[in-house]
Amino acid sequence: MTSARIVIDRTAVVAPIDRRIFGSFVEHLGRCVYDGIYEPGHVTANEEGFRLDVVDLVKELGSTTIRYPGGNFVSGYRWEDGVGPRENRPVRRDLAWHALETNQVGTDEFARWCKLTGSELMMAVNLGTRGIDAALDLLEYTNHPSGTALSDQRIANGALDPYDIRMWCLGNEMDGPWQTGYMTADDYGKIAARTAQAMKAADKSLELVVCGSSGSAMPTFGDWERTVLEHSYEHVDYISCHAYYQERKGDLGSFLASSLDMQYFIETVVATADHVKHKLKSSKTIKLSFDEWNIWYLDEHRVSDEVNEEWPIAPRQLEDVYSVADAVVLGNLLITLLKNHDRVGSASLAQLVNVIAPIMTEPGGPAWRQTTFFPFSVTSRLARGEVLRPRIDVETYATTVYGDAPLVDAVATVDAEVGKSALFLVNRSQTESIEVSIDVAGLAATAIDEALTLHDDDVYAKNTLPNRERVGLRDLPGAVLEGGTLTVTLAPVSWSAIALGGRATTATIVTD
Ligand code: AHR
Repeated sequence: MTSARIVIDRTAVVAPIDRRIFGSFVEHLGRCVYDGIYEPGHVTANEEGFRLDVVDLVKELGSTTIRYPGGNFVSGYRWEDGVGPRENRPVRRDLAWHALETNQVGTDEFARWCKLTGSELMMAVNLGTRGIDAALDLLEYTNHPSGTALSDQRIANGALDPYDIRMWCLGNEMDGPWQTGYMTADDYGKIAARTAQAMKAADKSLELVVCGSSGSAMPTFGDWERTVLEHSYEHVDYISCHAYYQERKGDLGSFLASSLDMQYFIETVVATADHVKHKLKSSKTIKLSFDEWNIWYLDEHRVSDEVNEEWPIAPRQLEDVYSVADAVVLGNLLITLLKNHDRVGSASLAQLVNVIAPIMTEPGGPAWRQTTFFPFSVTSRLARGEVLRPRIDVETYATTVYGDAPLVDAVATVDAEVGKSALFLVNRSQTESIEVSIDVAGLAATAIDEALTLHDDDVYAKNTLPNRERVGLRDLPGAVLEGGTLTVTLAPVSWSAIALGGRATTATIVTD
């Protein structure tokens, strides 16, 4: 059996955990909103039409901030269409996804849904077809207490208290030729800077996210970030990153190493942002908002989602069904976000329900967890306190896309206040179990509270409507904590989490 050694150095602190690293994303796309979070008439729907079975799953998932209302959708959106009496709201064409938008869910409904799920709303403004004026109006509508035209309109619409939205995205993927109103870096940098400056004139404590590249493979990657930040640096707080991964041409080995690309992406954006910082002699450091990340079988959707003559309402779009391998990669991407949490301040799994999502629903039917639900929910639940960067000594394997990749990746967290810590690990080997010996002496842990794993002999096993619980978490057998060493055996293509704590002395603790 292959073996690996990991040392958890209690002093190797990356950053205190900001819960915004566990954010998600709800876009008016396909069945994410309609027939997803909102389905009046469903047996679990509340008086407003929100499915409470979905609300329960969102809470269990442990997502924190929710980016809304898009995505590509926002670049053609008129927020005014989605407020006021529902019967007066117009139906519009959504050019981004070639569908009809009924506007039955808008800002007020979504803010109430966020309250229901205990989430923080992260709002995106339209810089595709609109600009400063619409952004300022939306800000006044959502955040101004009262006594102005738009705050009073919100109150008349039933929301006495302002929503106090803190994080705002200045448009979406404005570098992408598919984006309605896409721009050059120079043009976008200018409009983003002016919009940010105006929004901060209304409230200087807002946290603003300027659009970075929509992928590290974009031809403008790097130059885009530099140019946009040269215009907007002093007015913004975050620059966005978006990344989607998929297994291509049966190359599972490269797919399992996807987080190497995410690491490269993060390092490149950090280097570029810091270059601009020094060039401008600024004292401020920009953080990254990784506000779209996930597995997405994009190549397949290019064919199935092809634009045709129809304008459907809430069609089934981007409804990827995820495998065990997809979940392992997702768990690894989350490990990477945590390892870079000193610079990645916020992140959003794209998306939340039905559309490339951890939660699926059937109209009039059940809601269920995809495989990718599990690593996200467990990490969100167990990762508390501070992130620690481990030292990992393990063999590598050759990949076609990323060169040599370590067989094991891991991250640790420690919450000194409550005396709990956690480890998250992946085994990328397709054939070998790996015995990992982990020096956890620095954590002063004395018990294994939980040891969970996601693995299946069939790496392509999935949860589907007829078989909704085919894949789930299992106990990780054979984990031993003895003295200051934790020993675990990771199955091939697996993601695992171990929670440590307890107050025992130096006993040997073994999981069943
Ligand atoms: O999440 C799906 C789409 O991916 C979003 O609308 C867009 O921003 C990205 O290209």
